[in-house]
Amino acid sequence: MESTIQTPKDGVSMKFVTLVSIVAALGGLLFGFDTAVVSGAVGFMEEKFTLSEVQVGWAVSCLIVGCIVGAAMSGVASDRFGRKKVLIAAALLFVIGSIGSAIPGTFTGYVIARMIGGIGIGFTSTLCPLYNAEIAPAKYRGRLVAFNQFATVTGIFLTYFINSGIANYGDHAWDIENGWRWMFGVGAVPGLLFLVLLFFVPESPRWLIKQGRPAEALPILVRIHGEELAKQEVLDIKASFGQESSSLRQLFNPGLRLALIVGVVLAVLQQVTGINAVMYYAPEIFKETGAGTNASLYQTILVGFINFIFTILSLWLIDKVGRKALLLVGSASMTVCLLVIGIAFQTGHTSGPLVLIFVLLYVASFAVSLGPVVWVILSEIFPNRIRGRATAIASMALWAADYVVSQSFPPMLNSFGAGPTFYVFGIMSLITLLFTWRVVPETKGKSLEQIEALWTQNKNKGSDNKNAA
Ligand code: GLC
Repeated sequence: MESTIQTPKDGVSMKFVTLVSIVAALGGLLFGFDTAVVSGAVGFMEEKFTLSEVQVGWAVSCLIVGCIVGAAMSGVASDRFGRKKVLIAAALLFVIGSIGSAIPGTFTGYVIARMIGGIGIGFTSTLCPLYNAEIAPAKYRGRLVAFNQFATVTGIFLTYFINSGIANYGDHAWDIENGWRWMFGVGAVPGLLFLVLLFFVPESPRWLIKQGRPAEALPILVRIHGEELAKQEVLDIKASFGQESSSLRQLFNPGLRLALIVGVVLAVLQQVTGINAVMYYAPEIFKETGAGTNASLYQTILVGFINFIFTILSLWLIDKVGRKALLLVGSASMTVCLLVIGIAFQTGHTSGPLVLIFVLLYVASFAVSLGPVVWVILSEIFPNRIRGRATAIASMALWAADYVVSQSFPPMLNSFGAGPTFYVFGIMSLITLLFTWRVVPETKGKSLEQIEALWTQNKNKGSDNKNAA
């Protein structure tokens, strides 16, 4: 991120913006931590609470149910109370969720605590990218928002180590009694840090202007853009609220309807192309190739590492080559990788490193494209006046799709086998490629207000065509 800090020549105080965005991206770290931590804990909990197979599934997915609820509430809450207050609430929910899932005496107590934490993730997964987008100068917006995804994958990667560190610390009996509690409990530390730091960040200037408080927004915009540009920004943002109502119904009008379709479809495609089948079940996939328990755990750490490294590459590329190019190349490469993995499983060519290599290539392709780019696009395609609520709809769709994939992957493996399961993900990647090519606009370098104008132009084009006909 150093290069972004040292670019005052274009009048943008990148130091301020970068610091603020890092704080917001801590939410991403908690997202990664919380979604990954259960993979290390669930085996010990299974023994502690003598869980059935269905309860094991529930131990993993109850968090995602909380995320769906949190994402659904995040829009209305943040449009009404502001981004900052809802992020503070999310940080509190994280801390309560982490401590609550570490101390329960019963499985039900654990499920309730995880759902509370999940609501926090639902909030931050929607609002951290959105807050970053609303505070970032157009030129660096992609990178700053993608920084959130970088924090998420850092959280996932760190969690693999924390889990294995804790599991190697005590003996098996200690792990069943206490080890898993520490795995969840350590989440309270970044949660508290996030909570404290949030008190030092400003409210989103765009939200303040929407609330009719431009006098409070101006000093924040001055710190970002400098005196002169800030005044122009205030005018542009004000104009973007225009005469149009802030009712969500306008999302169904031509023009904005396309924004809604792009947001929801990309959100769902990010999940149904199978990334979390790999993130949540990597050891199981590698065991299918005949790898032993230890080998499959090392291979899983490798997956986390590749995800981490290639997300860094995407930070560098996203504002240079643009969102669309990354999506096109990434989804094309994912399609090929998934096809090869599917063929390898179906034809029994799993004894060599082929599957591992193509799983890693698949993760790398996701990390440089769909992973960060979808969250960036979701945070920037909707108009100022409804951004919170509209982004929340897409984010809710994303979490619901995550729930479906993570629930259906184990039964799909059992009933159809690994080959056809990966073909399904491959077909979804191909659909992503075609959808991006035909429908997704490039948003690189445009201000949020210019992106909004894109949809209006579309609408006008639509009505011009009708008139001509
Ligand atoms: C994105 C996805 C998330 C996934 C992660 C993996 O953030 O939204 O579901 O676990 O990437 O890196």
